[in-house]
Amino acid sequence: MTNKFYLTTPLYYVNDVPHIGHAYTTVAADVLARYYRRQELPGGKKACEVFFLTGTDEHGQKIWQAAEEHGKKPQEFVDRMAGGFKTAWLRLNISNDDFIRTTEERHKRVVQAVFSRLLEQGDIYKGDYEGWYCVPCESFWNETELKEGEKGEKLCPDCGRKVEIVKEETYFFKLSKYQDRLEKHFEANPNFVCPKSRQNEALNFIKQGLKDLSITRTTFPWGVPIKEDSKHVVYVWFDALINYISALGWPDGEKFKKYWPADVHIMGKEIVRFHAVIWSCILMALGLDLPKKIFGHGWWTVEGKKMSKSKGNVVDPIALADQYGVDAVRYFLMREVKFGDDGNFSMQSFVNRYNADLANDLGNLLSRTLTMVDKYFEGIVPNLFPAPECDKRRNFDDLSRTLTDKIKDVFNSVSLEMKTVYVSKALDEIWELITQANKYIEQEAPWKLAKDENKKDQLAAVMYNLVDVLKRVAFFVNPFMPETSRKMWQQLNLSGKPSLEASIDGVKVAKGEPLFPRIQKS
Ligand code: MSP
Repeated sequence: MTNKFYLTTPLYYVNDVPHIGHAYTTVAADVLARYYRRQELPGGKKACEVFFLTGTDEHGQKIWQAAEEHGKKPQEFVDRMAGGFKTAWLRLNISNDDFIRTTEERHKRVVQAVFSRLLEQGDIYKGDYEGWYCVPCESFWNETELKEGEKGEKLCPDCGRKVEIVKEETYFFKLSKYQDRLEKHFEANPNFVCPKSRQNEALNFIKQGLKDLSITRTTFPWGVPIKEDSKHVVYVWFDALINYISALGWPDGEKFKKYWPADVHIMGKEIVRFHAVIWSCILMALGLDLPKKIFGHGWWTVEGKKMSKSKGNVVDPIALADQYGVDAVRYFLMREVKFGDDGNFSMQSFVNRYNADLANDLGNLLSRTLTMVDKYFEGIVPNLFPAPECDKRRNFDDLSRTLTDKIKDVFNSVSLEMKTVYVSKALDEIWELITQANKYIEQEAPWKLAKDENKKDQLAAVMYNLVDVLKRVAFFVNPFMPETSRKMWQQLNLSGKPSLEASIDGVKVAKGEPLFPRIQKS
């Protein structure tokens, strides 16, 4: 049986153009998708079938208002904005298998079917809602949860903007009915929500008591209409969460049977609660398995400030990619901040990382090594080692042994971090190997060995070890920086896709352009 790996990003609201916050979630998911997709069994058979889903959240009051502000019909508006996300993901080399839009028929049909089923089985009932609503967050709040502004106005505890009173007829979803089961699920699955702190936050929230949730609106028309009562449209969160199964063709689709439950839903920390609570309860009501993991990453500020249109500090990932290359952007986002923690974007830190990690550590390791292979061995990786001898000869001294031990370790440590979704830590591990290889060059000083005819074997071993590191690095960085990995593979002049099995013996390297030309600081 082949394994499967189903992973998702949230659906992005189309009132906004894609910025680095959106790119962060999407690149992280892409890194995981690429990582799992390349797992092969001997003979090139797929070990893991990956399905990577992303898309756009196009209904609700916020989008409806945004369309009005732009003087556009909602459908026209969302069509244009969704196109912007598709283009951005292409540019950032995102390898999603599907892109779902909540205005598509295939999705709306499933939302209506879920609603009808839950209504029929008594999990949804009609009533009246009176309470507070935050339009930017599309979220209902209890009075006690709200913050108070300077003039006594009521503010959303999440985004700090003004909330409004909503009073309307609505259908409620019986969240309260699932409280006990959900608590038990959390207790039985301590890694359901990651990082740990977010599992605790979500569990504490549940323990305070779940109130039934208003899941239809009547005061604006932009949503999925319910079949049973035409003036109601489905609440945008209830609508959007269902994408994770509508894209698979719930209830009978082949993809649904193959891929559900999701292996991981990746998202920002502020929307973990919607997934851990509302989505889990919908799934329990439908009798479906819960996702295996929900990972809530941290938030990016820009130059120390919250990113917002009004502050004019929104960072465009495409402009950055155009200037510095896609892989530099992907690398920076994945490396700068421990996945799960909050982080800060600044041009200074971007340039520093680019120059230090990419131009110096990685770029120089490749170009120095290939230059030396050219100079000392006419470009041919020494092939001095028939198989059983190889280990002995390449480990001719302590420094070499330390390096080859590291080479052996890194596979396991990267696998461990990737399995637990700590993508930034996987990069830390890879960079430890790169750093160690750079030190190895300094310590072995091949330029000295080259001066001594008797040290030809040692020189050959050193070059062999360095090329071996480069081959492995090309393989390990592949999910993070696919283009860089390909360029490294080309310069190493190896055939096929980057793999650990490729043999470097006797290969004639083909040194090329620097991978990451230094950014001159102004
Ligand atoms: N539409 C909902 C999700 C519905 S999922 C069924 C939504 N959309 S969003 O466009 O507002 O946010 C989508 C993702 O972008 C979230 O994971 C969010 O955390 C991420 N980010 C948006 N701004 C961000 C930062 N400044 N920093 C990091 N990620 C942030 O919520």
